[in-house]
Amino acid sequence: MKVFMKTYGCQMNVHDSEKILGVLSTLGYRPTEKEDEAELILLNTCAVREKAEHKVYSELGRFKKRKGEGVFIGVCGCVAQKEGMGLIRRMPFVDFVLGPRSIYALPDVLREVKRGKKVVKADLDGSCITSLTVPILRQEPYRAYVTVMEGCNNFCSYCIVPYTRGREVSRPSSEILEEVRRLADTGYREVTLLGQNVNSYGRGLSEGIDFPMLLEMVHEVDGISWIRFITSHPKDFSERLVKAIAALPKVCEYIHLPAQAGSNRILKKMRRGYSREEYLEKVAMIKEYIPTAAITSDFIVGFPGEQEGDFELTLDLVEKVRYQGIFAFRYSVRPGTEAASWDDDVPLHVKRDRLIRLLELQNTITQEISSSYKGKTLDVLFNRWGDGKLEGRSRDNKIVIAPGPQSYVGAILQVRIERARMYELEGTIIKGGDA
Ligand code: SAH
Ligand code: SF4
Ligand code: F3S
Repeated sequence: MKVFMKTYGCQMNVHDSEKILGVLSTLGYRPTEKEDEAELILLNTCAVREKAEHKVYSELGRFKKRKGEGVFIGVCGCVAQKEGMGLIRRMPFVDFVLGPRSIYALPDVLREVKRGKKVVKADLDGSCITSLTVPILRQEPYRAYVTVMEGCNNFCSYCIVPYTRGREVSRPSSEILEEVRRLADTGYREVTLLGQNVNSYGRGLSEGIDFPMLLEMVHEVDGISWIRFITSHPKDFSERLVKAIAALPKVCEYIHLPAQAGSNRILKKMRRGYSREEYLEKVAMIKEYIPTAAITSDFIVGFPGEQEGDFELTLDLVEKVRYQGIFAFRYSVRPGTEAASWDDDVPLHVKRDRLIRLLELQNTITQEISSSYKGKTLDVLFNRWGDGKLEGRSRDNKIVIAPGPQSYVGAILQVRIERARMYELEGTIIKGGDA
C-alpha cells in the first residue's frame, strides 16, 4: 500500500510527517511521490496565516476526484486540530481529521475509516509526543529532528499555535537521550532539537532540568557532531543558555530569535513579554559570548495599530541587529486569537509596502554579510550530491556548495569560500577531515 503525503508549515510539521509516515510503515504503507498511485492521501497542514489555510482547501479540492477510486483522504496538522469536524462538514469527501497530538492514534483511526466511518481525532491532551517504540521515517540520513517539547503557553495575541498545539509539554530527558543515542548509532551526525519554545524546556517535568542542562546532556552523546535547536523565545533566552552554547563545541553558532516587531507599543500589544531594549540586550549578550553567531528572526508587519513610526522602529531594529536572514509576514487575522477582536486597521497596500521595505533592507544586509564570507574557511556537513557538486550547511546554517565526490555526503569538511551569493556560498574543499 502506498501513501502520498504533502506537508505545509514549520519544522515541527515536517518532523510530524516523518512520525506519521513511521506509524504508517508499521501498517504496511510506503510513501510515494506520485499521488496517482497512492491508496492513502494525507495533508499535514498549517494554520498560522490565512493563506496557509486556504492552500489546504484548494489542495483538498484537487484530491476530491480520487475519492471514487477507493482512495482514503486524511487531514493532519494544525488546520485539522483547529477545524475538527468542521473540516469534514465543509469537505465531506475527507475521511479523517487527525490533530498533531494524535499521531499515534492513526492505526485505530484508519481501522475505523476502513469500516466506512468518518473519524475526528483531535484531543490536545495526548501526552506522548514522540514514541520510542514506533519508527520515525526520516527524510535525511545524516541530520535528524528530535522533539524535546511540544505546544506553547505564550498566547501571543496574534498567534493560533497555542490553540492548535496545546499547552507546553516537555519530553523526559531520558527519552530524548535514548533517541539521540540511537541516531548516533545509525550514522546520524547532526540533531536539531525541536520545540515551539525550546527555552522553556523542563517546565512541568519532575527532573529539575532546563534547556541548557539538556544541551549539556545531548552534548555527551558520542557520534553526534553538531547540535542545533529551534525555536528560541527571546523572553526566556537566558545568559546561562548563551554560556552553554559558547562552552559546548558541538552546539552550532546559529540562533533563531524571533523579534516580531521593533516598537515597544506593538510588542506589548503582541504580548511578547519583552521590550525592544531587552531584546537588544539579549542580542548584545549573544554577540559578546559568541562573536561568530548567526542570528535570524521573524517579523510581522501591519499588526493592528502599527503606525509608520512603529514600523520604522522595526527597520531600525533590523539595522541594529544585522541579522543573517529574516522571515517577514504580513499580519493575518486568526479567528479565535485575542488580536482577532481588534480592528485589522493597516490597509493591505500599506502592509505590502512595509513588507517590501523590510525585505529590501534585509536583502542589503544579507548581501553584505554573505560577501564577507569570501576567503573564509567553514566547516560544512554535506548532505546532498548532484552533478559532481556537494551541498551542505555550515555551522551557522549557510548553504555551501563545493565540487567533490558523492562519497563525501555525510562528512564534515573544511571549505574555503570563493563565491558568495545571497543565499548560497560556493567554495573548494581544502581538508578531507573525516571523509
Ligand atoms: N514559536 C515561534 C513562532 C511560530 S509561528 C515564535 O514564538 O517565534 C512562525 C511565525 O509566523 C511567527 O514567528 C510569526 O512571525 C508568524 N506568525 C504567527 N502568527 C501570525 C499571524 N497571525 N500573521 C502573520 N504572521 C504570523
Ligand atoms: Fe505563537 Fe507566540 Fe507561541 Fe510563538 S511564542 S508559537 S508566536 S504564541
Ligand atoms: Fe503552522 Fe502549526 Fe507550525 S500552525 S507554523 S504548522 S505549529
